[in-house]
Amino acid sequence: MKDIIISPSILSADFRCLGEQMELLAQAGCDTIHVDVMDGVFVPNISFGQAVMKTIAKDAPLPMDVHLMIVEPGRYIEEFAAEKAVESITVHVEACPHLDRVIAQIAEAGKKPGVALNPSTPLSTIEWVLEKLWMVMIMTVNPGFGAQKFIPAQLKKIEQLRKMIDDRKLDTVLGVDGGVNRKTAAQVSAAGADYLVAGNYIFHGESTARAAAEAIREACK
Ligand code: DX5
Ligand code: ZN
Repeated sequence: MKDIIISPSILSADFRCLGEQMELLAQAGCDTIHVDVMDGVFVPNISFGQAVMKTIAKDAPLPMDVHLMIVEPGRYIEEFAAEKAVESITVHVEACPHLDRVIAQIAEAGKKPGVALNPSTPLSTIEWVLEKLWMVMIMTVNPGFGAQKFIPAQLKKIEQLRKMIDDRKLDTVLGVDGGVNRKTAAQVSAAGADYLVAGNYIFHGESTARAAAEAIREACK
């Protein structure tokens, strides 16, 4: 079995010192850094955009995964892809009428393409693009805010996606984002997830980020 990938969301970090907070995550043994970009249109909240991204990417201690919760993400791919530290860019199915084109755009920009599905969005939406994806990310909360409650109905979707990936003999990463803690980490990992985003739990769930990351790893064994 592959090791679980832990990607903490800096949405729950102390924005006064993002550099130090990212350093903390690297020291805590996390794998990548999840950057939640929100536009106040696709989701009800606004987080940060390219300027902040550019600044923190300069000396990021880990590869960065950009999660674009914005309408028309295709307009911004090249700008986010310009950062060396950015390893992958994930867009939402619901925000892309021409999803296949946006996936190609991410790949052409030299980054790994990921696609996220809101809780109400069926797996059939990625049926014809799955082979082109580095990651499919199942949202286990309605995107927009950190520290929301995990939606258990998504476990079945995770299981079905696992089957879809395995049936096609792909090595697509199966990501989960929202409400991940030591308890839900065990559930989603048992359902077939191999990449976990966690914000609130990593930064506020245990005594330290390291303790939280270790608890997640332990729970996924
Ligand atoms: C939700 C974001 C998530 C969120 C995860 O809109 O996409 O990445 O920050 O945070 P927690 O782990 O606190 O649910
Ligand atoms: Zn996210």
